[in-house]
Amino acid sequence: MRSMFRWIADLAERAKGLDPTADAVAKVSDRLVPQGVVKDGLAGTWLGHPLHPALTDLTLGAWISAGLLDLFGGEESRPAAQRLVALGILSAIPTAAAGLADWVDTEGAQRRVGFVHGTGNVGVLGLFGLSWLARRRGRHASGVVLAMLANGTAVATAYLGGHMSFGQGVGVDETTFEAGPKMWKALEGVTPAKLDAGRPVRGTVGQVRVMAYKAGDRVYALSDRCSHRGCALASGTVHGEGDDAAIECPCHGSTFRLVDGQILRGPATAPQPAYEARINAEKVEVRLRQ
Ligand code: FES
Repeated sequence: MRSMFRWIADLAERAKGLDPTADAVAKVSDRLVPQGVVKDGLAGTWLGHPLHPALTDLTLGAWISAGLLDLFGGEESRPAAQRLVALGILSAIPTAAAGLADWVDTEGAQRRVGFVHGTGNVGVLGLFGLSWLARRRGRHASGVVLAMLANGTAVATAYLGGHMSFGQGVGVDETTFEAGPKMWKALEGVTPAKLDAGRPVRGTVGQVRVMAYKAGDRVYALSDRCSHRGCALASGTVHGEGDDAAIECPCHGSTFRLVDGQILRGPATAPQPAYEARINAEKVEVRLRQ
């Protein structure tokens, strides 16, 4: 059995006709919020979790509360309901900016669902704007009807946002299900000679891809799957030296310190799993850093 919401989400995933418009909007958004401090702030790098889902609680909470006051609060609650509608509108601005910062780093079906989600939310914002204006002009009944329409639409767009997170994994730490070795294990596909070339090299330990890099006598190793959207870090660029050395992901520029996987630059919000690495009997061995 498929709910109507799921049917809409599946339809949006397959709607390739949206691609030219969605890609054009993403291009403009990418220029407006390029990689750097502002994008990291909106992505939630400082928070350790994506920021957008947290902000939606404030926006939707205000609007749903206004709707409840409209239904059950009586005449004396009208001013409070109007203020809640205004609070939702104001908070929608950073909420939308954070969502946009996440969305520009999506592709394909994720980008399509996000495009429908965002376009729907522009409609929701417009309806609440009209609701606020109607209330301000004393047309309370119109304001309530518009808010009901807006909240109804917001339920559908919120479902699409949830589908992006729980169905498509946008914003999920891509390394969360990796189970790297706790004991020393050989890194298959990586030899000491390959490391001597001075470039990041990709190997595997069981099902886990690991990126290794040698600087001087020291070997560093991180999960190869970028925690942001899963790109291969071994294809990235190493900057810096010693314990300050870091690798920059080739896809969206997240930068992780090689020694411990900590984030030096977003938009990633989760650090990379880091491994201890050594050369032992002509093999490169790794184990999870404790
Ligand atoms: S996949 Fe986005 S920064 Fe690595």
